[in-house]
Amino acid sequence: MSINSSVTAFAPASVGNVGVGFDVLGHALDGIGDTVTLRRDDRPGIRLQGVFGRIRELPADPASNTALRPLVALCQDFSITEGVAVTIEKGIPLGSGMGGSAASAVAAIVAANALWQLGLDPERQLIYAAMGETVASGAGHLDNLAPSLFGGLVLCEAGDPPAITRLPVPADVCCVLVHPELRVDTRDARAMLASSVPLSTHVQHAQHLAGFVAGCLRSDMDQIGRCLRDVVIEPQRRALIPGFAAVQAAATNAGALGASISGSGPSMFAWCRQELAAEVAEAMVDAFAENDVATEHWVSAINAPGARLLTSAAGAVSV
Ligand code: HSE
Repeated sequence: MSINSSVTAFAPASVGNVGVGFDVLGHALDGIGDTVTLRRDDRPGIRLQGVFGRIRELPADPASNTALRPLVALCQDFSITEGVAVTIEKGIPLGSGMGGSAASAVAAIVAANALWQLGLDPERQLIYAAMGETVASGAGHLDNLAPSLFGGLVLCEAGDPPAITRLPVPADVCCVLVHPELRVDTRDARAMLASSVPLSTHVQHAQHLAGFVAGCLRSDMDQIGRCLRDVVIEPQRRALIPGFAAVQAAATNAGALGASISGSGPSMFAWCRQELAAEVAEAMVDAFAENDVATEHWVSAINAPGARLLTSAAGAVSV
């Protein structure tokens, strides 16, 4: 048996809600994510050692840090008393609607599970990671956490344990994600939402969510396109995004099946056939630029892989 002195895990960014499934639907993104390293430390407790990447500073208090909070809970539950130094490499912009808080929490728990060889099943890991999401947004919604952990497009049922269903997606559909260089705090974007919707809106929303899932199960592009429409959340949040209507129209005019807000924004996503991805991305970027908003963008598979260990052997000692 060997004990690692440090473990590093990566967890990808994600698109929460996917337009039609507020808090219940999400998918992973390729090529961008957060990386967390846990290193055994002589000093007891969970200690933030460093923050790298897009930002250099995060709260060191576990009560305010999405990666540290789940680690503290895990140490309490498993009576782990040894110290651990945590470094976080933020690949995901803060307040971008790309699931950054979820990715940091997931990477921390995946690393901890390996470091202490806890054998936690994925649902248990999700429950711990949700404690980190609660720090960031005030709610343990799973629509970023679950795709970041499992990868792909997932349907999330809260519960103990939560039930996560991986949905198929048509092979030649991909996601264009455009991040305008603005910041939206998820907590604020949740606080602005009405607490109830008219019955007719609820019915329309249910039709869209059910039709979207059915379209994915059947690989029916027309149905996915018809149903990728958010009648509940988008109308309430679109004002947070300068040029929202123009960007959405640009995406669909360029051939996207649909486009909406990624998570709580301000990033926007579009689903489209792979051969149209460059065109759709350019149209969305140009529409933002016409509204004086600078952007960066990614094109990703929807079945993007979930969290994984990057290194678990560095500095290993045998016992
Ligand atoms: N479902 C969450 C929300 C995602 O829309 O508030 C946050 O990224």
